[in-house]
Amino acid sequence: MLQPQALVSPALSPDFDEQYRSFPPAKLGVLASGSGTNFEALIQAIADGDLRAEIPVVIYNNPGAKVAARAARWGIPAVLLDHRNYVSREAFDYEVVQTLKRHQVDWAIMAGWMRRVTTVFIDAFPQRAINIHPSILPSFPGIRAIEQALEAKVKVAGCTVHLVDLEVDSGPILMQAVVPILDNDTPETLHARVQAQEHAIFPKAIGLAIAQGHKSPTP
Ligand code: GAR
Repeated sequence: MLQPQALVSPALSPDFDEQYRSFPPAKLGVLASGSGTNFEALIQAIADGDLRAEIPVVIYNNPGAKVAARAARWGIPAVLLDHRNYVSREAFDYEVVQTLKRHQVDWAIMAGWMRRVTTVFIDAFPQRAINIHPSILPSFPGIRAIEQALEAKVKVAGCTVHLVDLEVDSGPILMQAVVPILDNDTPETLHARVQAQEHAIFPKAIGLAIAQGHKSPTP
């Protein structure tokens, strides 16, 4: 049977890797709406020395989101910004940006952030915002990506890490992993296998973006 496979290797050349390690750890501000398993995969990669970064803050927008408890376990400040309390998407994004800036964040990382962003956000983090989505983009953007793949009866699903732009689940692709769809898959079984791949490629793609970001002038 086909095994899940990362399609783009982050392999950094030795001198590139050395250069990357000579910079201070990048500060990642994480945005999450739900469970936060991808957030925790990033923390674990940092703890294991596989991702040279730190997470000074996580912002979440749903009061019941499990990500808050995960953050508490790791001693990471979690800030609730409920989008329902803002008059517009722009006003909400302004508060998100201010919070990230207060924590001196270099990169905004969307780990299950179920919000479309505005120019307020993109202008504050141009080429410095990264999202993960559970499909092989550009197929199946938006909500219910796993269900969309099953309904379309495609043979492979997967996940994509990409830079964020104004469209939903759109922007330059950094890394993808494919996951074969089995005949007896349900949304739950398929999502579990896709998430295992998400947790593997998300830290790798972020590390690669940080390394490349150090090579280009900071916007
Ligand atoms: C992940 O599967 C992520 O790809 C998806 O939300 C889930 C969050 O899981 N994101 C999107 O659908 C973005 N359009 P998590 O809270 O366990 O990390």
